[in-house]
Amino acid sequence: MLVIAVATLLVVSSLSSASPTPLSPSTLPQRRSASVINFQRNTVQADNKVFNAEAARKERLRVKGKYGTINDRVQAASHSTKRALKTVAEPFDIKTKRAGKEGKDPLINVFDSIDVLYYGPLSVGTPPQKTNVDFDTGSSDLVVPMSNCRGGCTGPLINSSKSTTFKGTRTFFSIKYQDESGANGTVATDAVTVAGLTVAKQAFGAVNVEFGGFSGPNAGLLGLGFPDNAVSNSKPFFTNLVESGGLASNLFSFFMSRGGVDGSELCIGCVNSDKFSGDIDYHSIDPSATGGVQLYWNIPLWSFL
Ligand SMILES: *[C@@H]1O[C@H](CO)[C@@H](O)[C@H](O)[C@H]1NC(C)=O
Ligand SMILES: *[C@@H]1O[C@H](CO)[C@@H](O)[C@H](O)[C@H]1NC(C)=O
Repeated sequence: MLVIAVATLLVVSSLSSASPTPLSPSTLPQRRSASVINFQRNTVQADNKVFNAEAARKERLRVKGKYGTINDRVQAASHSTKRALKTVAEPFDIKTKRAGKEGKDPLINVFDSIDVLYYGPLSVGTPPQKTNVDFDTGSSDLVVPMSNCRGGCTGPLINSSKSTTFKGTRTFFSIKYQDESGANGTVATDAVTVAGLTVAKQAFGAVNVEFGGFSGPNAGLLGLGFPDNAVSNSKPFFTNLVESGGLASNLFSFFMSRGGVDGSELCIGCVNSDKFSGDIDYHSIDPSATGGVQLYWNIPLWSFL
């Protein structure tokens, strides 16, 4: 079973960074979140394709017993969410995709005791210069390290002088993630391509310093969260693709391998049926944890247990 969250415009599978810590009033983009309620994942996820719902239900009871009560209000919300689900899920069907664009890219799973992040290729400029980014569903900005980087960048770096379509601004860009890593620079626009899909004037943080262990095997980061969480106050890459109206389906999906093995993939405008078996399970996203403003791909846990 593949878990897919459904919104009016956007659909996504599998969150790569949940929001386990309390949100501060000025919500920080989230990434590499570390506090976890310890599900015994091996039983819940019998192999890396099949979700074991019965084991998940048992696990939910075990966690509930260990971490306290789920109050009546939550139970009530659970039931109303379940009722709401059918009506939200029905209008969307993967099989009814339009004639339109879609694209896949293989991702590399960075494994260091845990599956830390998934990164893959991205290109910037005219002609395109290649770099790579950590694909992050918990933040909403594109961060690109530039060739004038004076600290912390591993690269590959993008040289704006070599692009005929690059437009810089004087607007300061500064992002800091929950793990205290971040980057500073200015807001710029240029052509950006991922999985063969191009946004001609994509805004991003053209950064000249990265800190707190921001870059590692990945050079930059592409946030796949919602526009209201963008510190650059500009539209995220996926939002621009959706608004262009050219995608086969307004969704993206990930296949995330475990333990650093090959085969991870990002599919934009598509779901790769070679990567899972069984039916797709749809869940409404719920902004109530962030004051009713949709910042993250939040799914209430009780919605799928
Ligand atoms: C960027 O490209 C320009 C034009 O080709 C070149 O003169 C400059 O040295 C490059 N900058 C860096 C830091 O590589
Ligand atoms: C990044 O910018 C912030 C201001 O938003 C500043 O406090 C911080 O010192 C800067 N970090 C670096 C490494 O330049």
